[in-house]
Amino acid sequence: MTAPIRILLVEDDEVDRMAFRRFVAGEDLPYNYTMVSSVAEAKKRIDDGSFDVIISDYLLGDGTAFDILALKTDIPVIITTGAGDEEIAVRAMKAGAYDYLIKGRGHTYHKILPVVVDKAVERHNADERFRVLADRESSETVVVGSTGMSDVLRLVALAASSDVPVLISGETGTGKNLIAKTIHMKSGARQFPFLSINCTALPENLIEAELFGYEKGAFTGAAKTRKGIVEMAENGTLFLDEIGEMPLHLQSKLLDVLEEKKVRRLGSENVTPVNVRIIAATNINIEEAIGRTFRKDLYYRLSVLRIIIPSLRERSRDIPELCSYLLARIKGGRVFRLSDPEMQRLQQYDWPGNVRELKNILERAVILATGPDLRPSELLGKRNAADGPVNALPDPPEILPLEEMEKRYITAAFRTFSGNVTKTARELGVPLSTFKRKLKEFGLK
Ligand SMILES: Nc1ncnc2c1ncn2[C@@H]1O[C@H](COP(=O)(O)OP(=O)(O)OP(=O)(O)O)[C@@H](O)[C@H]1O
Ligand SMILES: [Mg+2]
Repeated sequence: MTAPIRILLVEDDEVDRMAFRRFVAGEDLPYNYTMVSSVAEAKKRIDDGSFDVIISDYLLGDGTAFDILALKTDIPVIITTGAGDEEIAVRAMKAGAYDYLIKGRGHTYHKILPVVVDKAVERHNADERFRVLADRESSETVVVGSTGMSDVLRLVALAASSDVPVLISGETGTGKNLIAKTIHMKSGARQFPFLSINCTALPENLIEAELFGYEKGAFTGAAKTRKGIVEMAENGTLFLDEIGEMPLHLQSKLLDVLEEKKVRRLGSENVTPVNVRIIAATNINIEEAIGRTFRKDLYYRLSVLRIIIPSLRERSRDIPELCSYLLARIKGGRVFRLSDPEMQRLQQYDWPGNVRELKNILERAVILATGPDLRPSELLGKRNAADGPVNALPDPPEILPLEEMEKRYITAAFRTFSGNVTKTARELGVPLSTFKRKLKEFGLK
């Protein structure tokens, strides 16, 4: 028998706690769980004990799931949010959450829970030092559909036939990792390593050590000499994810690597020649950061080939083809259908989490399906492309009762500050206690 999965459940809602307990007992899941109701308690438990996975509700008495993420433990965090808060979920994923669950009525999300937990634990057990894409992912193809993606694919082919640096940008979940890996697999370097490092996942000094390596004694804890991943990717591809977040002084060191094709380990006198193709990715508008948080010279070095992946909402025509591709990969022999109205709803939705979100929703729809007809649209947020951003204020001609206006404004502000109660109250200029009362009143908490 394998060891039970140790879960820390951070949940302050008694109904949800009970539902969880009942579900785990009812399904006889191999979970060993601890329940806490606040960020402070969670922090204490994490310091004291060891867990395989943290499941945290989004809104907590003394903060939000973002405060849990800010603890930067290396335990995967799954956040749960209410229906309609998909955007928070997407933002949480960007902030480092491993996955999310949308709490619907009747606790149907519990059915998905074991799958999500298993996936998270699997990842936790994987080598975290740098993530080499798992083999089963390397068989993925890029679905191009009918639109803007064909330009992307042309550039992929061009990139694969040379070894110049490539800079990929696109919103979260548009396939930047997939494209980077595809370039590598189509290039002459395919039999050499493809290594990737996420420039936001680690503190600055660790990224530096990971990238460039170090000599024994270079800093406290450097017990032995270690190669950095720039060296380890020799002859292959180094994927620098979220390059836009790379601290400035590392940017200049990276520029040296690109210009000199040499790397100096921390604490070393010597330089080692390196031959590695660099692919960088960003989901911020990096052109806007040039000269401020991003070095201009590095930008030009990296963007010899520039690939911009359109968001899914800009290519909703690709959705049917993406659905058949993604479903073929997940359904495991069962036959499923998507009716025309279902497909229409999928095409109208605005997909803040792009293809990743589509994939998640389809996976979940498959788990929840009782017959051949899938109903993924039931798992979507209330938003659709026509609604525009959720935090938009009504246009001036629409006159709303003040209270409704206040509610919308507070909701928008609360989302803008990622559900940070203290910060939102401060920005709105209201006392914390008043703000908390309003949240309750408007059912936001
Ligand atoms: N065109 C596509 N065809 C098939 N699958 C795709 C496509 N685009 C994305 N995917 C799938 O969607 C998921 C998300 O893609 P990926 O991780 O590459 O996104 P990303 O842009 O790197 O996101 P992030 O900015 O959050 O890191 C992956 O499972 C990927 O395989
Ligand atoms: Mg990525």
